[in-house]
Amino acid sequence: MKHILFVCLGNICRSPMAEEVFRTLAARAGRADEFSVDSAGLIDFHEGELPDMRMREHASRRGYCLTHHSRPVRPDDFRKFDLIVGMDEQNIKGLQRMAGSADGTAKIVRMADYLTRSSAPYVPDPYYGSDKDFELVIDLLEEACTELLGRL
Ligand code: 4NP
Repeated sequence: MKHILFVCLGNICRSPMAEEVFRTLAARAGRADEFSVDSAGLIDFHEGELPDMRMREHASRRGYCLTHHSRPVRPDDFRKFDLIVGMDEQNIKGLQRMAGSADGTAKIVRMADYLTRSSAPYVPDPYYGSDKDFELVIDLLEEACTELLGRL
C-alpha cells in the first residue's frame, strides 16, 4: 500500500481536489486497494471545514464529491506517508521547513512535475480567483494525477 499526501496552503481548494481526483483515477484503473490518499494544508485557518463551496461546485460538475475536512500538515506525516505532493513553490518550501530529516525531505515532490501536456510551473491558488481558475485547477490535477498514477 502506497500512502500519498497532497498538500496546498489552506487544504480547502487544490489538495482536497487532488486527493479525490487521484482516488477516482485509481479506482477507475482497478487499483484502489494499492493506495491510501489524504490531503492537508500548511495553514490551519480552515481546520475542520469542508472544501470551499466553489471548489465543491466545480468538482461536482465533473462528477467528483469532495468530503475531506481541512487539517494542517503534521510532523508525523513525513513518517506516515511515502509521497508528499505540493501544489506550488510556497507549499514546497513550507514542507521542506517542516520535514525534519533527509528521509522526510526526499518524499516531497511537485505536482507540476507530473504534467505531461501543460507547461504550468505549478498548480495556481484559485482562492482569490474566478470560475476559470477553479476549472484550471481541475484540468491540471486530472492531467498530473493521471501521470502520477501511471508512474506508481
Ligand atoms: P488552497 O487555497 O491552498 O488551494 O486550499 C487557499 C485556501 C485558503 C487560503 C488560501 C489559499 N486562505 O488564505 O485562507
